Amino acid sequence: MQMNDLIVKKRDGGALTTEEIQFMIRGYTDGTIPDYQMSAMTMAIYFRGMDRRETLDLTMAMMHSGDTLDLSGVSGVKADKHSTGGVGDKTSLVLVPMMAARGVKMAKMSGRGLGHTGGTLDKLESFPGWSAAVPMEKFLENVETVGMVIAGQTADLVPADKKLYALRDVTGTVPSIPLIVSSIMSKKLAAGADVIVLDVKCGSGSFMKTEADARTLATEMVEIGKMAGRKTVAVITDMDEPLGNAVGNALEVKEAIAALSGAQPGELMELCYTLGACILTAAGLEPDEAAARAALEQSVADGSAKRKLAEFVAAQGGDRNAVYDVSLLPEAPVQVEVPAPEDGYVSHIAASDVGMVSMHLGGGRATKEDVIDLAVGVVLHKKVGDAVRAGESLATIHAAAPEAAARAARDLAACYTITPERPVHTPFIKAIIR
Ligand code: URA
Repeated sequence: MQMNDLIVKKRDGGALTTEEIQFMIRGYTDGTIPDYQMSAMTMAIYFRGMDRRETLDLTMAMMHSGDTLDLSGVSGVKADKHSTGGVGDKTSLVLVPMMAARGVKMAKMSGRGLGHTGGTLDKLESFPGWSAAVPMEKFLENVETVGMVIAGQTADLVPADKKLYALRDVTGTVPSIPLIVSSIMSKKLAAGADVIVLDVKCGSGSFMKTEADARTLATEMVEIGKMAGRKTVAVITDMDEPLGNAVGNALEVKEAIAALSGAQPGELMELCYTLGACILTAAGLEPDEAAARAALEQSVADGSAKRKLAEFVAAQGGDRNAVYDVSLLPEAPVQVEVPAPEDGYVSHIAASDVGMVSMHLGGGRATKEDVIDLAVGVVLHKKVGDAVRAGESLATIHAAAPEAAARAARDLAACYTITPERPVHTPFIKAIIR
């Protein structure tokens, strides 16, 4: 088999066979197929697409390109959640302990990534002493006894995606549905859960800008998950403005703790209850959405979800007291308010620009080598639809120094659009695809 022939076949609109896809992924992973041929192939896939059978074959070939996590020795239902990513997305910090408190086993291997804030691992490092490095034996033991682990990759999961994603990133081939589906689903399948819930964001702060695109992506991922034998559900949610109020690592941890304390109604909790109810019903642990939601609300009301977070933090070497006393978490030395320039209603908050403000403050990484300042970021006090008076605080900037705070305050003010009329309300949860 020759890679050149496969490129020509896909360029001309043909469907690759299972064997051809396996040959291509094996060769690219072991280095016998060079980047220049693979970039021609990804461009051909970008323009010609793949049918569902090809997408499943690509997903499975990528999944088997490295280690897979064997959770068969762990008792009970094992679930996993994936978000396509957005600004202020601290959902895992709330949802995972909530699920563990209801007896669902959550084993998450996360990366760090680049972007406006760190990833979930960076956020969790706000807990003094907490470590993402968990050896495999301990990883499996903690999933069984604590019910949840969030750790850096201890196994070499899906090496094909590491190479392929880096290549797509520099060849204009990230936004291709079969390539995105196989990238995300190969990692989820390799991580071993029986139930997978996908939070697919849509809007200006996410990479699926329209609801129609988000729906296509969600439907394909759900179908591939089901064809691979996993219970898979996707929830399409709005990312036109940041999720919740905080954007920044320790700030998001504080918001998550407030949510688990029952002090944070709003779309963050709405999302966590919706995703959690999808997991509990798909797993057959609750008969319907209403019962599942009541069970989750109970885990917040009786403090069991928050206790689970504390247990998890301690099991990975962190100070559990910080869950009950957030003054033990990093705090920025400079805090500056951003006043509203006029009376009116907040009609838009440019989510990705808010993310950039957090990144420039030092809360995210522009390159892999950058060191994150866990304390800095932004807390929004006004969200879309809120009425504001001139001079009232729209947000608080948390910064390391006054100059950085002043610049961030200017940039953040520019993220807000204030209009005389209240904007039309759009639903936060747009669809659930089962
Ligand atoms: N996230 C991934 O993991 N892969 C993609 O291709 C896009 C987003």
